[in-house]
Amino acid sequence: MILSTLQKERAAYQPKCSPLLEAIDSLAFDPIGDAAIDPKIEALFPKTERRPIEKLTRGAKHSFEPLRVGVVFSGGQAPGGHNVIWGLFDALKKLNTHSELLGFLDGPSGICENKTMPITEEALADFRNQGGFDLIGSGRTKIETPEQFAASARTARDLDLDGIVVIGGDDSNTNAALLAEHFAKEGLKTRVVGVPKTIDGDLKTADIEASFGFHTACSVYCELIGNIAKDVLSAKKYTHFIKLMGRSASHIALECALHTQPNMTLISEEIAEKNKSLRQIVEEITDLVESRASQGKNYGIVLIPEGIIEFIPEMKTLISELNTLLAGHGGPEAISRLTSESKSCFSSLPTSIQQQLLLDRDPHGNVKVAQIESEKLIIEMVTEELKKRGSKAKFSPLAHYFGYEGRAALPTNFDADYCYNLGMLSAALIAYNKSGSICAIKNLSQPASTWEPYSVPITSLLHLEMRKGKEKAVIEKALVKLQGPLFKRFSEHRAKFARGDCYLIPGPIQLFGPPEITDQRPYILEG
Ligand code: FBP
Repeated sequence: MILSTLQKERAAYQPKCSPLLEAIDSLAFDPIGDAAIDPKIEALFPKTERRPIEKLTRGAKHSFEPLRVGVVFSGGQAPGGHNVIWGLFDALKKLNTHSELLGFLDGPSGICENKTMPITEEALADFRNQGGFDLIGSGRTKIETPEQFAASARTARDLDLDGIVVIGGDDSNTNAALLAEHFAKEGLKTRVVGVPKTIDGDLKTADIEASFGFHTACSVYCELIGNIAKDVLSAKKYTHFIKLMGRSASHIALECALHTQPNMTLISEEIAEKNKSLRQIVEEITDLVESRASQGKNYGIVLIPEGIIEFIPEMKTLISELNTLLAGHGGPEAISRLTSESKSCFSSLPTSIQQQLLLDRDPHGNVKVAQIESEKLIIEMVTEELKKRGSKAKFSPLAHYFGYEGRAALPTNFDADYCYNLGMLSAALIAYNKSGSICAIKNLSQPASTWEPYSVPITSLLHLEMRKGKEKAVIEKALVKLQGPLFKRFSEHRAKFARGDCYLIPGPIQLFGPPEITDQRPYILEG
């Protein structure tokens, strides 16, 4: 692998560690109350050991037999993933120098097909503190059929695995819990544990303060938005509509809004709560364009969360009907079976958006929102609305989509440190037999020396949800809390952001320099 000068320099960074996790052979697990598990969910996991949430503390020194562990990336890239593998590797070697780590290739399909590569010091060398998931690759295969579960068990048995670490988001960690249950049912020794990954920030609970990758991805988007802001202030002629990745929740849009202070940021959760129609949203943006034009400001920046389309009430109903119909029938037939409200909503949309809504779902039954050009739909509708109003406002819109640009970036110090610690914690959960648990680290806004690692049963995060037209146990996505401190701060200031030019320019991620700029934390940790 060819590394740039910066990548080489960055590879030498030594992540900051929790002293507790460094003493991995001397841990104890303190129960912190009973994890509340829905009885219906519990019935789906009869073989998974019922355990409370446990906090890691110092315990007596243990000695460990060599461990054989497999690790898999599941789903979209998130900066810091390689450091999870690095932390896991170092921790396993610390437990016993003869321990071995295998990487499953190209995601969960690598487990079903028994495709692995050995993770060694040499293999890791070019991937320390680097972005992407390219050491072993990732994929979105969902292990769900009896054949896939049987194949996974065969792999675990054939490779004589003591554990599998699933690095993934909400759906992938649900899969980890199902695999743990299946292996227990089969009497396998293989423990399965999860690591919370996703740039979307929606794998968040009282114990999981943030998923890894969110900070770096947001920092990349903030740099780009800041650059656009400077361009806007210089040229004064364009209104930029920037769609930001994040699938469902608007955590990324909110985080970026607070860091860059654009003129308007749509928050999907607020749209759903206020039951705003697409027309109302368009009218509000048109009002903004006209009111800024009346101050001589024919420019601006509007942030749009990627998942917005699924939160606008009439679109939500349409998508949910389409999801169910498409799970059973083909495209054109599905449209003819829509309710009359959804049919008229569908036919009011531009053809390009109609086609995007009919694209294949992901393996978890979700609509691929990354492929729906909501920023272009909004531009088209605002242009029409201005025309309808006979507006004199000069409106030159430009559409952007920031998504993939941030998902594989060089991780910030925070993500590099957090991920290395998550890797060590995943080794601990396997070594201390916590199958079916997800790694959680608390106190992340403070220095790593005070971080608090936890083991959280994945079943305690599950609830029942309709997927592909059927009720399924899944981890509930954490949405932006409209009563939370971040949305409150944003809503207190947004009128000022709309009128004025209050743009902040965060600049690029800093990997070297004073800790005030290299060791920043995301706002999402505040609530
Ligand atoms: P994960 O939930 O797997 O982390 O992926 C999140 C995400 O990056 C979303 O923000 C985005 O909508 C989606 O992946 C894009 O998926 P794909 O990589 O398949 O295009």
